[in-house]
This record gives sequence, C-alpha cells and structure tokens, in this order.
Amino acid sequence: MNRFSKAILVLCMVVGTVITAHTQGSQLAATPPMGWNSWNHFDAKIDDATIRAQADAMVSSGMRDAGYVYINIDDGWGGKRAASGKTRANEKFPDMKALADYIHSKGLKLGIYSSPGPAGTPACSEFESSFGHEEEDARVFAEWGVDFLKYDLCGLQDDMAKAATPEDAQKVMADAYRMMQLAIKKTGRPMVFSLCQYGIASIWKWGVSVGGNMWRTTGDVEDKYTRMAELGFGQAGLARYAGPGHWNDPDMLEVGNGGMTTEEYRTQMSLWSLLAAPLIAGNDLTKMSPDTYALLTNREVIAIDQDPAGIQGDRLRTEGPFEIWVKPLADGSKAVGLFNRQDDFIKSGEIDLNLAELGLGEAVQVRDLWKGKDLGLAHGTLKSEVPAHGVVLLRVYPVKASR
Ligand code: GLA
Repeated sequence: MNRFSKAILVLCMVVGTVITAHTQGSQLAATPPMGWNSWNHFDAKIDDATIRAQADAMVSSGMRDAGYVYINIDDGWGGKRAASGKTRANEKFPDMKALADYIHSKGLKLGIYSSPGPAGTPACSEFESSFGHEEEDARVFAEWGVDFLKYDLCGLQDDMAKAATPEDAQKVMADAYRMMQLAIKKTGRPMVFSLCQYGIASIWKWGVSVGGNMWRTTGDVEDKYTRMAELGFGQAGLARYAGPGHWNDPDMLEVGNGGMTTEEYRTQMSLWSLLAAPLIAGNDLTKMSPDTYALLTNREVIAIDQDPAGIQGDRLRTEGPFEIWVKPLADGSKAVGLFNRQDDFIKSGEIDLNLAELGLGEAVQVRDLWKGKDLGLAHGTLKSEVPAHGVVLLRVYPVKASR
C-alpha cells in the first residue's frame, strides 16, 4: 500500500469512527432508560398534582442527577375520545401539554401509557386503547411533548385467542406494535417505544423488528421477594437479545415500596443492573427513606447498568441456593453478583468465587460496590459472606487495566 492509499485508509477510519460515535450518541435508549413510573405505587390513582410532585421530588432528591430522567404516567390518565376520534386525557389531567412543559422545564422527560386493543375496548383499566387510532394518538402524544410510550397488550387478547396457530397470534401482536411504531415515526418526535407484552412468544427474538427499544420479558413484578426473584433470576439466557437501543425488561423497580427488606431491594437493584435492565423506579419519591435513596442512587451500581458496552449480564452458575452472575463492561472489567437465595432469614451464606473463572487472569483487583471499598489484589478463591436474600456486588479488574 503506498502512502497516499494509507492516508486515505486512515481518513476513512477516522470518519467512520466519528460517524459511529455520533450515531451511538444520538441513538434512542443507547443505555437502558432510567426514570420513574406511577403504576407500582399509585396504581391508576394518579392526577396532575401527583405527577408534578414526583417530578419535583425527582429533582430535589437528587434522583435526576443520578440519571433518572423519565417521568412515566401509566394507566389512569385516559379519557373518552372526542367525537372526532381524538384522544383526550380525563378530568384528572386538565392540561397534558402544560404538564409536559412543566416536566421538561425540570430537565426531565415525559412518558405515557396506552395499549393496542381494538377500538372501543378499554385498555387494562377502564380507559380506551389506541387500535385504529394509532396515527391520531401518536400525533397527540407528540403535540403534548411525550418522549416515551409504554404500549401494553391489553385488549388484544381476544384477537390472539381467535388466531389459528401460535404464529398467527404472534403476527397479531407484531402487527399491532409495528403499526404504533410507524405512527410514532411519522410524528418525527423521538419516543422510546416500550413494549409491555409480558414476554409472550419470546418477544426478545422479534421485539427489535417491530421497533421496540425495550420489551417486557415477564408478567408483572410484585413488591415481594419471591416474585421479584422469580422474574430477575429467570432472565438467564436472554443476554444476547439485548444491546444499545433495545433492552430486555423484567419490569420496574419496587425499591422503597415497603414489601421487601433492604437486602432484598439491594438484590433487585444489583440484579437489574447486571441485567442492563431499564431502571424505572416505582416508589413514592416524595417520601423516600435514606436507605431507599442510597439503594436507588449508588453511582457505581448505576454505572454497571449504564455501561456503554450495553452487554447484558448472565448467570455464571448456581450452587444450591447461591447464584453467581457476571456482566462484562466496556473497560475490560467485569461486574459480579454473588446472590444468596436462601429462604431462611437467619442464614447468611459463604459464596466462593473462583476468580480464574472470570477469564481476567490469575490475579485481579476487586472492589465491593455497595461498600464502596477496594478489596485489593486477589487470586484463587474469593470468599464472601452474603446475607439471606441478599447480594455482594463486585467489580473485578484485570491487573493491567487502567482504572
Ligand atoms: C399491566 C402492566 C403494568 C401496568 C398495568 C396498567 O398489568 O404490566 O405494568 O401498566 O397493566 O393497567
């Protein structure tokens, strides 16, 4: 290769890198979306004042600065359509545009909820759904200033039941989601498209093809350990379907809602971060305890979730009630979760991690993320005491990697 061709090649590589960086930077949901959603705490009992108060608390508490930016209004906002077919909020939300402006003025983004059921069928609660009105609804959402749409499956079940084969049922769903995605695109306003589809027909395999930026892989989370653990640990094997712009979603956080212990909530936060799951808080932000705040805003834990490589972690192995999960990170280090699923609350357990198994070399540097403490150089077997239903979350660096 002569010097001229070499120069051209180098130029092409530089331009290529710049273009790639630009595309990645501007990509919607380049890292798992972070925010808050009304459903887990408030159910459909929401109104304009509730949402404004949550937005205020998102900022004053420091949650926004930790990365939580979406304020997502779930089921409960919809009203009767106008005679023209135009969607309208109910009386609890007198001016959705003004609410959106308020949320935006705080440096936050607005999310909203709908579902694809046939015209006239109510969505999950008693509210109308978007089927047959996709373009109108997407246009109204865009006019309001919506940045995120959670699109449920409610109302579509009858059509799916009528389908002759599972493939036909999948097509019913895929068509409904694709239609809404096209409608959003047509508005020209970027909106994160969140498919609330419960993981039916392995949506992780086709969620991207219908424009999903994230898709539920499970039914609804509950504020209790058994359900949260069933959903979170059930994600093993799904890692390859997630990546920048498209994430597996094992449902929202329950941290701070009162049904679990601090150790159990620490498990949810750690596992969700290892899973590169969207971090959508579901507690009342206006009444957060210091413990809840600390769990939701630990920067080193959030950095695992938001790692730019966007690689979802997976289970390395189980040993009786213990599980070890690993997530490769962009700088060559790995996040490691040591989980104790033992039900007996009195019993903590010692989990042995064979460090060589991480593939980072014989000797490694270890940091405990929840303690915020370097454990120093280690090799061989690392022994950790893990509380029942709890976790030790580590970041392990190859010795030569710069930190
Ligand atoms: C479904 C979803 C929940 C919530 C409710 C609202 O159950 O999975 O997250 O949106 O609908 O009715």
